[in-house]
Amino acid sequence: MARKKAAGTRLNACRIVDLPKIMDERGNLTFIEGGNHLPFDIKRVYYLYDVPGGATRGGHAHRNLEQFLIAAMGSFDVILDDGFESQRFHLNRSYYGLYIPSMIWREMSNFSSGSVCLTLASKPYDESDYIRDHHVFKELVNPEAP
Ligand code: TYD
Repeated sequence: MARKKAAGTRLNACRIVDLPKIMDERGNLTFIEGGNHLPFDIKRVYYLYDVPGGATRGGHAHRNLEQFLIAAMGSFDVILDDGFESQRFHLNRSYYGLYIPSMIWREMSNFSSGSVCLTLASKPYDESDYIRDHHVFKELVNPEAP
């Protein structure tokens, strides 16, 4: 018998969004509209850059925050985990975004040299929204796991 999933576990809600691309011989342009290409209004933007080779970022989940990640430059991997299963996404185009709802554990690794991870977020920064202990996360989303 399949194990019942706890409410809020939803790796299948994570998805790659193919963003509009205006091709031009002077260079391409991509735009993102909160509430249109994303299911949330954008309250905060931040970006990771100068990531040293071999470094891992993330390593947490958010209780309420939704995020949208774009490899604005270069490439990196994002491993998403809903407490039941995990999936690796490779972001390597500036016109693809990865939507991450709340209560998904994420880790970013394999950053290429010069890469930039642009992140759009649904709320201002709030440390109390973070779950930084994977055991705590697992207990919340999949309490029956060994
Ligand atoms: P963190 O979210 O853990 O980084 P990542 O998940 O990208 O590896 O944030 C790293 C540090 O930066 C931490 O001390 C909190 C701080 N920070 C802010 O002050 N404001 C922000 O908007 C973000 C995203 C982080």
